[in-house]
Amino acid sequence: MHYGIDDIAFSTTHYALPLSELAQIQGIDVGKFHVGLGQEEMSIPAHDEDIVTMGAAAAKRVLKDVDLSEVRTVLFATESGIDQSKAAGVYVHGLLGLPTTSRVVELKQACYSATAAVQLGLAMVQRHPKQKVLVIASDVARYDLGSSGEPTQGAAAVAILLSANPRLLRVEPESGLHTTDVMDFWRPNHRNRALVDGQYSIRVYFDSLTAAWQDYQEQGGAPFADFIGFSYHQPFTRMAVKAHQNLTRAIGHKLDSDQINAQILPTTNYNRRIGNSYTASLYVGLISLLENHPEDLTDKRIGLFSYGSGAVGEFFSATVVPGYQELLRKDENIALLDSRELIDHETYLKLQDYPEPTDGGEHPIASATQGEFRLAAINNDQRIYESR
Ligand code: COA
Repeated sequence: MHYGIDDIAFSTTHYALPLSELAQIQGIDVGKFHVGLGQEEMSIPAHDEDIVTMGAAAAKRVLKDVDLSEVRTVLFATESGIDQSKAAGVYVHGLLGLPTTSRVVELKQACYSATAAVQLGLAMVQRHPKQKVLVIASDVARYDLGSSGEPTQGAAAVAILLSANPRLLRVEPESGLHTTDVMDFWRPNHRNRALVDGQYSIRVYFDSLTAAWQDYQEQGGAPFADFIGFSYHQPFTRMAVKAHQNLTRAIGHKLDSDQINAQILPTTNYNRRIGNSYTASLYVGLISLLENHPEDLTDKRIGLFSYGSGAVGEFFSATVVPGYQELLRKDENIALLDSRELIDHETYLKLQDYPEPTDGGEHPIASATQGEFRLAAINNDQRIYESR
C-alpha cells in the first residue's frame, strides 16, 4: 500500500499588486523585482479575506467529490494565525460542513509547518487507511512597508488531501531533517508583520537545504540523478534557483544554467504571480510543477524542500502516480490568478489598514471579495464568517 497526496489545490486573494507599481513609487528598477527576485505580482487580501476564507476556498476544491465522513482530521498550518487560542481550521471545518466526528488542530513553525502536517497526516492515514486527512496551509505574508521584505509579500492557501493509494503523488518514507535555533525571521506576539534579517535568512536556507539533503541520503533517500524536478519553498521564486545552484555545487553535481532551470522553473509559474505564501508556497510550487512541466511525469520522482525560518528544514520525495493528469486544474488555476483585481499603490496602502479592532465593539466588514467565503464582521472580538 502507498500513502500520499490524493488531491491538491490552491486559492488566493481578490486583489493583486503588480510589482511594477511598487518599483515606480519607490524609484527602483523593476528588473530587481522581475529578474532579481523573480516576482511579478503579489496577492493582497481584501478586508473581508484572511487565512480562513482562503483555506476554506482551497479545501472546497479538493473536497468536491469526497465523502466527507472519511475526513476525520484537519491539520491547519499557518504563520499568520488569527487567534491565540482557537485553531483557524475549526472555522474552516464549520464553513465546509465537515463531520463533528473529526479532530482539528493548528500547527506553527514559520513557513515549514505544512510539511510537518503532511508527515503527521501520512502517519495517521497509514494507521487508518480508510480515512483521509485534510491539510490546509494558509498564510498572508506581511513585512513592514519600506523594508527589503516588502516586495516579497503575498497570500495564498493550499489544501492537500492525504490518503492511502493516492491518485496524485506517492510520498516516500525517507525524509532528511535539519533544525537549528537561529533568528533569521520571527514575529513577536505584539507584531502583525514579520521581522527578518533577509540576507542572513538566505544563508541559513542554503545551509538547511544542504544539511537536510545529506540527512535524506543517510536515511536511504534516492540519488540526485533520480529526480526530474525539485519544488522548494519560494519566499521569492529566484530563491529556488539560487538554492538549487547552491545545493548542486555543495554536493558536487555540476549543472549548467539550462539544467538548473529545467529542474526548477516549472515550479515557479504561480508563485511569480502570488508572492510569498509562507506555509503554502512550497505546495503552490508543487502544483505548478505538475501542471507546467513539459514532460509526462508518470512514475517520475520529485524532490521537495520545506524551509521555515527559525529554523527547520526538511527534504523529502514523492513519485507521480499514473493518470495524475486527470486531477490537474491548469486552466482553472490560471483563470483564478487572472481574475484578481489589479490595484494601484494607493489602494494597496489603504488595504494595509486591515480590520483588527481592539474595542470589543461591532465591526461589520464591507463586501469586497467575490469568493464563496468571507469575513463578514468582527463583533465582540469574535470573527464572523459567511459562505454564499
Ligand atoms: N535588475 C536585475 N536584478 C537586480 C537589479 C536589477 N535592476 N537590481 C538588483 N538585482 C538583483 C540583485 O543582484 C540580487 O540578486 P542576486 O542575489 O542574485 O545577486 C537581487 O536582485 C536582490 O537584490 P538585493 O540587493 O539582494 O535585495 P535586498 O537586499 O533589497 O532584498 C531580500 C532581498 C530577499 C533580502 C529581501 O527581499 C527580504 O528580506 N525578503 C524577506 C526574507 C526572505 O525572503 N528570505 C529568504 C529566505 S526564507
